[in-house]
Amino acid sequence: MSTPRVIGAEAIEDARRRGRLIVEVMPGDIVTALAKDSAERLGLKLVDGPVDMPAPPRTDGAVSMRRSLYRRSPKWVAPSRQPRKAQRLGKLALIGAGGVGGNVAHLAAMHDIAEDITLIDIAPGMAAATALDLNHTSGITGAAGRCVGGETLNLVAGADVVVVTAGRARSPGMTRADLIDVNARVIRQAGEAIRSEAPNAIVIVVTNPLDEMTVEMLRATGFPRERVLGMAGTLDSSRFRHALARAAGVSPADVDAITLGSHGDEMAPIPSRATIKGRPLDVFLSPDQIDACVKDAITGGGQVVALKKSGSATLAPAHATIEVIDHIRGARSGPVPVSVMLAGEYGIDGVVLGVPAHLGVNGLISVEELRITDGERTALHTAANAIRTRLGL
Ligand code: LAC
Repeated sequence: MSTPRVIGAEAIEDARRRGRLIVEVMPGDIVTALAKDSAERLGLKLVDGPVDMPAPPRTDGAVSMRRSLYRRSPKWVAPSRQPRKAQRLGKLALIGAGGVGGNVAHLAAMHDIAEDITLIDIAPGMAAATALDLNHTSGITGAAGRCVGGETLNLVAGADVVVVTAGRARSPGMTRADLIDVNARVIRQAGEAIRSEAPNAIVIVVTNPLDEMTVEMLRATGFPRERVLGMAGTLDSSRFRHALARAAGVSPADVDAITLGSHGDEMAPIPSRATIKGRPLDVFLSPDQIDACVKDAITGGGQVVALKKSGSATLAPAHATIEVIDHIRGARSGPVPVSVMLAGEYGIDGVVLGVPAHLGVNGLISVEELRITDGERTALHTAANAIRTRLGL
């Protein structure tokens, strides 16, 4: 027999939040007058138990809320920022252990994303040093993952996910496109090693110019498009959300916004789909402010390069890479912007471009075709054409 409880107004409100229609009152339970009032006000029935409780709703309150706030299409649900219980990877390999690779390793270790985190870098001792340094944190953090580091690409063997950040970064005044020739060679070598040593891996390309290097990686590995993804959209979207939150004076958590297109001058932030506190941008911001936020997102990476003088951003790209990995391993739900080879989606074919996509343990599941304005669609096509031209396609 259960212990008698005092059912107060709080319990009624809690039941309501959980989507319950009835509250079960067991023999001996005391229901306060306030609880009775609350039940009446909230439309909940107090029922003498024990009763068979109705099955819980198929979506929780947060999903229903996001679905009603973000009316993109009846089926679309805005991605939740709450990490869920997820699969732990067997092996995460990082080709490139510089600023971005090192921070990805750090975050992956802290979030217990993989059993084995392998860092690879041609700079003598660098990857091994970072791995050892990370292992030394485990006495404080209790992180269970094992980090190893070395200089040879065959260390990628057996990886489930490979993040490629190797290559040169921009210097002030350079565009990402200026790096095509030098970084394509790096990507080809990395891709060949991945093809022979980790033939089932999902590859996340971070090296710039991102969209072009993702095409190179597809060629070098021969992998299907499902397993070669470019990380840019999560980074550019985070920069866009940050700009919007600053301009509107709200918390970044109140902003939902995505950026599509190329990870370069033809980036396409999508203001028509963006919301602040669930409302369209123009409720909070003037057209000029929205334009300034779009520009801030597009130039965000360059702003960091200009301040640093040598090298580019590391922290936001690392977090944005972890966001993609979290979608792969099921720690986050909903579509996420990633660069993938398009096969007719948005009317574009045969070129890699940032689009919203659903990911899973086998990589790309599907590209989500959002309703966007004609101007935004044109921006996507402009980006596709620019990438084609740069690659001589
Ligand atoms: C940036 C680099 C990583 O946008 O492309 O910061």
